[in-house]
Amino acid sequence: MPVDVMLSAETIQTRIRELAADIDRDLGGEVPILVAVLKGSVHFFSDLARAMETDAELDFMQTSSYHGGKSSTGVVQIRKDLDINIEGRVVIVVEDIVDTGTTLSHLLELLSTRHPKSLRVAALLSKPEALKVEVQVDYLGFDIKNEFVVGYGLDYDERFRNLPYVGILRDE
Ligand code: IMP
Repeated sequence: MPVDVMLSAETIQTRIRELAADIDRDLGGEVPILVAVLKGSVHFFSDLARAMETDAELDFMQTSSYHGGKSSTGVVQIRKDLDINIEGRVVIVVEDIVDTGTTLSHLLELLSTRHPKSLRVAALLSKPEALKVEVQVDYLGFDIKNEFVVGYGLDYDERFRNLPYVGILRDE
C-alpha cells in the first residue's frame, strides 16, 4: 500500500528539538517522569527524550482503544501500567496522536488520581476536526487534517510503524 509523505523525517526532528527546548525551559531543572503511551509514541518518545537536556526518568504505559483498522471502538483499556510511583512527581505523558481525545482524557483522569505534582502532555500530532473530548496538550508537534496517517510509530494493523516519516495511506 503506498504512503504519501505528509511530514518528512527532517521536519519531525526539527520540531522535536523545539519541543524539547520548551520542555527543558519549563522544567527549570526538575527531573520529570516521561510516560510513553505504547506503541505509537515509541519514536517520538525516544527522540524527544534524547533531544532534552534535563535528566528524565522513563516509564511506559499501554492502552488499547483501536483493535485494528481505521476506526475507534471508543473503549479504552489499560494493558500495561507504570512501574514508577508518580505521586508528587512532574509527569509528562508522551502521546503519538490526539484523534477524538478519548484515550488521552481517560489516561489523564487515571493518572491524576495518583496525585502527581503536575501532569502535562506532549503529543506529536493532533486532529482538531476529529476532537470529541477536550484535552489540553501542552507541547504539540503538528496539527493535521482529519486523515488517517501512518509511520513514525503510527500503524495500520501494526504495519508502517518503522517509517521515519508520517504519511497518508492511500486506499489502492
Ligand atoms: P483517540 O482516543 O481517538 O484520541 O485515539 C488515540 C489513538 O488512536 C492514538 O494514540 C493512536 O494509537 C490511534 N490513532 C488515532 N488516529 C490515528 C491515525 O491517523 N493513524 C494511526 N493511529 C491513529
